[in-house]
Amino acid sequence: MIGFQRDGAALACDGVPLDRIASAEGTPLYVYSSATIAARYRAIDEAFAGYPHRIHYALKANSTLAIARLLRGLGSSADANSGGEIEVAILAGFTPAQIVFTGVGKTSGELAQAVALGVRSINVESEGEIARLDAIARERGVRTSVAIRVNPDVDAKTHPHISTGLRTNKFGIPASDVPDICRRAQFMDGIQIVGLHAHIGSQITDLAPLANAARALVTLARELRDKGTTIEHLDIGGGLGVSYDGEPVPGPVDYANAVLPILRESGLAIVLEPGRHIIAPAGALLTRVVDVKDAGVRPTTLEPRAFVVMDAGMTELIRPMLYDAFHRIEPVVRTGAPLVCADVVGPLCESSDTLGRDRMVPRPQVGELYAVLDAGAYGAVMSSNYNRRLFPAEVLVENGAWRVIRRRQKLQDLLALES
Ligand SMILES: Cc1ncc(COP(=O)(O)O)c(C=O)c1O
Repeated sequence: MIGFQRDGAALACDGVPLDRIASAEGTPLYVYSSATIAARYRAIDEAFAGYPHRIHYALKANSTLAIARLLRGLGSSADANSGGEIEVAILAGFTPAQIVFTGVGKTSGELAQAVALGVRSINVESEGEIARLDAIARERGVRTSVAIRVNPDVDAKTHPHISTGLRTNKFGIPASDVPDICRRAQFMDGIQIVGLHAHIGSQITDLAPLANAARALVTLARELRDKGTTIEHLDIGGGLGVSYDGEPVPGPVDYANAVLPILRESGLAIVLEPGRHIIAPAGALLTRVVDVKDAGVRPTTLEPRAFVVMDAGMTELIRPMLYDAFHRIEPVVRTGAPLVCADVVGPLCESSDTLGRDRMVPRPQVGELYAVLDAGAYGAVMSSNYNRRLFPAEVLVENGAWRVIRRRQKLQDLLALES
């Protein structure tokens, strides 16, 4: 049994009961299934097996060291989005040649760090950044490999806050500007343009935009080749979505079927940067009920409503507040209590601190354990210390046992930074 599944009434991770883990480690707690991570990584790798490809796991989705190491062990390379993620990638054992560096606002310090390490490719976002990078590389007497992040002006049809491929988004260089920029870059001694990159957004469940972005890259690569710039790879970014509500969504094979026929025409190797698709369903946030409050009645049915106050909220999982994201929220051990319509809320001093609205749950008891599912991506990495709350612990379940991969933060950890 892999992933989060019920063994009778009780929810387990890779067969290990979640209530046992929470009793030992406390809550709020992130729990990850290593078997799920491995299966989902391999599913992508196998879907693209017939074509030269490299998977650069997007560390931004979840960069806890043990997770990064696990993915490296599976054969993944890494996509880093900051100097910090580059450091983490190196600590996790990725070689510089396995790292691509993306980011809309790379500082000169971060660019110098990437140049000094000799990362595989720096995905550049503007002509200004190319000039800065050229200067940094020349100063060091090296030529740095660059991929141009193209803004293909494609609507990813996802939540606007995670849409990155439209002309109105801050990301990348408009496709029409790229040939001239490449022509000018040919005269720069610090720059070698090796690739084109596009990442149009996240949680994409309609494959047409991903195919359109791939087509834009192939068309541009052909145009560049005709004008004398030889491209070695096309980086098609991440973005493949997951099902948060249990409804079917396209998987890696559908994705490969949608983009490979287009990419094949280029004859170029491809880079993929999946994050969410690998790690979201591999993680759950465990949280306990701290209070149950009367919330009046449902206007339509006059049934009683409740606020179920949890010990986790926007400081542990901000996706529902930031993107109106839906996560399934389930009691870890099913009770026979009558169902009640509840707003499942966090403890923070914000009304937006709501994990789920209008959820039918068995009337909860204080102390009862709940799981917020599919929380492995953009969950723990987005934690904050607002209200002086402490980062939750994280555990990884492997081979029928678990280990703490990040200990719970202590107040002293926070105060150590202050005078
Ligand atoms: C450049 C880039 N690559 C890859 C990803 C990973 O996206 P996802 O987690 O949706 O696969 C992101 C996330 O937004 C990104 O900005």
